[in-house]
Amino acid sequence: MKKFTITAAKTAGFCFGVDRAVKLVYNEIEHGFKAVTLGEIIHNPTVVNDLAEKGVRVINTPAEAEKDEKVIIRSHGVGRDVYRELEERGIPYSDGTCPFVKRIQNTAAKCSAEGKDIIIMGDETHPEVIGIAGHCQNKAYVLQDPEELEAFLKKNFENSKKKVAIMPQTTYNINMWQNCVRIAAFYENAETYDTICSATSERQAEAARLASESDIMIVVGGRHSSNTVKLFRICSGLCGTCFHAESPGELSMLKMPKGFSNKSDIRIGITAGASTPASIIKEVKNQMSEIIKNMDEDFNFEEALNASFKRLYTGNRVKGYITAVNNTEAIVDVGTKHTGYVSLSELTDDPSLKPEDVVKVGDEVDLIVIKINDAEGIVQLSKKKVDALKGLDELAKAKEEGTILEGTVTGVVKGGVIVLANGVRVFIPASQATMRRDEKLEELLKQTVKFKVIEVNEQRGKAVGSIKAVRSAERDAAKAKFWDTVQVGDVFKGEVKSLTSYGAFVDLGGIDGMVHISELSWDRIKHPSEVVSVGDTLEVYVKDLDKEAGRISLGYKKDEDNPWVKFESEYKEGDTVNCKIVSITAFGAFAQIIPGIDGLIHISQIADKRVTNVKDVLSVGDEVTAKITEIDSEKKRISLSIRAVLEENGEAAESEEE
Ligand code: F3S
Repeated sequence: MKKFTITAAKTAGFCFGVDRAVKLVYNEIEHGFKAVTLGEIIHNPTVVNDLAEKGVRVINTPAEAEKDEKVIIRSHGVGRDVYRELEERGIPYSDGTCPFVKRIQNTAAKCSAEGKDIIIMGDETHPEVIGIAGHCQNKAYVLQDPEELEAFLKKNFENSKKKVAIMPQTTYNINMWQNCVRIAAFYENAETYDTICSATSERQAEAARLASESDIMIVVGGRHSSNTVKLFRICSGLCGTCFHAESPGELSMLKMPKGFSNKSDIRIGITAGASTPASIIKEVKNQMSEIIKNMDEDFNFEEALNASFKRLYTGNRVKGYITAVNNTEAIVDVGTKHTGYVSLSELTDDPSLKPEDVVKVGDEVDLIVIKINDAEGIVQLSKKKVDALKGLDELAKAKEEGTILEGTVTGVVKGGVIVLANGVRVFIPASQATMRRDEKLEELLKQTVKFKVIEVNEQRGKAVGSIKAVRSAERDAAKAKFWDTVQVGDVFKGEVKSLTSYGAFVDLGGIDGMVHISELSWDRIKHPSEVVSVGDTLEVYVKDLDKEAGRISLGYKKDEDNPWVKFESEYKEGDTVNCKIVSITAFGAFAQIIPGIDGLIHISQIADKRVTNVKDVLSVGDEVTAKITEIDSEKKRISLSIRAVLEENGEAAESEEE
């Protein structure tokens, strides 16, 4: 026997403010007033129709009110000009503005009177926002999301002393508001006022909890009620079978998806938007109970509901079975008389995939209805929109938890790149895509990249990420590991990043070390560029470390290349060598014996006669023959003598003559 559990969310239905405004209208009628509401009192056709039956008209401006009518201001509130007009016309009115909305109006009015600019975060077309703006003496700006706020503050308040007060409309997304607060914190002259009403977030949190525990979720409320639509979106992402019903009567039109007939324990959750009266929620609950009560032991929920009239609506979430896949689309059975089609562009955003890479015949898939053509019996569906909804939730979770995600770079667009992850196109701004500005964005194309989510806009179905945040964290971790383990003598291969007159900076993998000019060559050089260039790869070793200061000195010269070692192995005192004059001083000349090894020919050893000026006898570049008269290994000094060679040659000549 099947077991059914029906749970209605405690926070479903009217919030305090709406309840108060609706009661106000009924109260006025009961007291014999001819009431009119300034705009529909709530977005609920059942309530609006009931009031209409009781003679309550809906008007759009005070001017439309008849003499004997009393105007009711709804919970969204109105601007000061409306109050003024009511008073000037002498029209009686009752103020149903929610006290929480009133509080924002007062805050905005006070800040504006103090000369501050006002920014309202929200929807500029929403009556509540229009009303708040209508309480400001000066201009009030309405911005939608944190990105818009960031750009606006940068443009208008970065170098300005002007003060600005920022406040959200009551139903603004809490995560987005937290980002706004973070952005505003960079501006000394910006104040933030948290004016979000918790009723909405509490209702959404409970709906999410209930949806994740339910097999079937019913969201009750007007199709034009933005908070009901938002609830439906949240529940759809968490419960595979989610219905949006405007009234209890629509329940009989719902079609249960395949698979439910096999379940023995079915949990049904019910929630409702802020404009749904408790009576309707109760009726929905009763109707579901009635359906369940009338079932016999072998009741087949699917068949029973299939027997009723089935309708699809644009925006409905449905389950479908793939019946065929071709090169351009997948054909789906959605359990109605329609033939369902999912085009490739609605299967995935990944341009490298074909339909067969995404779905196979027989797959059960979650889809959203995007277009219905009853005349031709065709319904167009989207898989990627469902994936994106689920994906957005996953991205929001990843943002909350700081999780690193992976995705493929599918495009380079103006100002950044697009990464496809969890079915969502995540925008990575250029400043967050690479570590250096000179790196080309095109090089990321088709690469699998790791990124962190920095912003999710569920209302607009958008997400922003940062590859740089992951790479910076990886680099910091690598740096920390490097400093933990590095020791003097360790050998690294690294790329020369830059040159200065005193040395070369080498990248050891995120850490730069310096090779001093004296360490670059055994020869005497005037600038590092004589031996290395930027981009060269060098094998270096750690000569010295200062972990606290984060400094590292590198060695590059190798002992086996030490020219002194080479010199001592090939030459000894008394040898005659051919050498080249490399510099001249007042006391003699230096001659290069082998590269890196010079010897001094003292002025007294330049010739076999007295020399007063070295330059009279020798010039830089002269090739001379000299005798090694002394090698001082400790001081690495060599003394040479041309005179000794000349005298030896003279003695030899004399003895030959004898
Ligand atoms: Fe008031 Fe909050 Fe409802 S502001 S109208 S109690 S959602």
